[in-house]
Amino acid sequence: MKKRTLLSMAMVATMMATTFAGCGESREGAGDAASDTTTATSETTEATTSEFPGFEEGATIGVSLPWLGTQNWKEAEEMFTEQLTAAGYNPIVQAADQKVTQQQQQIESMIENGAKVIVVGPVDGSQLGSVLEQAKEAGVYVIGYDRLLENTSGVDGVVQFGSVKTGELQAQALLDGLQEWKGDGPYNIELFGGGPADPNAPNFFTGAMSVLQPYIDDGTLTVVSGQTDFTECATVDWDNSKAQSRMDTLLSGFYSDKEIDGVLCPNDGIARACITACENAGQEIPVVSGLDAENESVEWVWAGKQYSTVAKPTEDLVAQTIEIIDSLQAGNGMPATDVTADNGVIDVPIYELPPVVVTKDNAKEVFANDPSRLELLN
Ligand code: BGC
Repeated sequence: MKKRTLLSMAMVATMMATTFAGCGESREGAGDAASDTTTATSETTEATTSEFPGFEEGATIGVSLPWLGTQNWKEAEEMFTEQLTAAGYNPIVQAADQKVTQQQQQIESMIENGAKVIVVGPVDGSQLGSVLEQAKEAGVYVIGYDRLLENTSGVDGVVQFGSVKTGELQAQALLDGLQEWKGDGPYNIELFGGGPADPNAPNFFTGAMSVLQPYIDDGTLTVVSGQTDFTECATVDWDNSKAQSRMDTLLSGFYSDKEIDGVLCPNDGIARACITACENAGQEIPVVSGLDAENESVEWVWAGKQYSTVAKPTEDLVAQTIEIIDSLQAGNGMPATDVTADNGVIDVPIYELPPVVVTKDNAKEVFANDPSRLELLN
């Protein structure tokens, strides 16, 4: 769980040293005192430099993505390749096809190839501990991308959209959509979660349940199948076809004489799979939440077929990551942040961006600066 801290220890150390140096007498006319200050300053510089050694421009940067099965990861692959190259680095960008061993091997070879920073979106948040510690020992910086890196000290920070917040937005959109599309309750709903190896998935679900649970308790919402635990609702590997067959089974088992009003869905692929299953079963389209603002779902939202999605722009996440890489390259260490997450071993600095819910009502505003999505809205 997230907790707020003032600043990372490294930043506190750097700030204290800077403050100390700043408190010394000015060099002009201060005689011996001036040289003391100079010493303190150069010690500070040395301490900072050895704590965060920079590296050469044009250095190799590894990017290890979990798979390319959803639009956000394909965008990340393209943007990292283009933007790291444009910034003068030598990128190695690879995807691991949902396979932990493949990802471990890819990261090992990035270390062997002299990468100075490795950016990792893990297939399984908790299975990279030893290879990331290897990276750390080799002096390689490791930045988690979009997903937390768990159970390891081999991570310097994680760039991501608020994952619990994402779940809260999905659930609130589901409630709003039920009122808007289905009128007053009570409502019949079902719940879906993402891939259980992905640390985001339980967080999305926890965030969503914190909003939905009171309405389940007071009878406004009925989860007709009774399946409300994350493990029952999870979708292994974020596989849309697995979600669609679970939805088929739920519909034939529990809804032969009932309407389904809503489905909590953790991303757009699963949302479209659930909507398709409902159409195939002759149900009216239920209110369905999503995530990623994938092109096809943006079109479905605009057409009134998928109620909502959540935008978490890849360009913002990639830009934030490259800003951190630039800071590391220049020898300035990890930028300050006041958010950390306990990954089971250390409190990891988190660089958190805000996700934004998208419905037909606000789509044009949300995508005002995203021409490729904006042109889907007509
Ligand atoms: C990402 C989502 C994506 C999902 C499946 C999650 O970790 O945050 O954007 O849809 O993985 O790829």
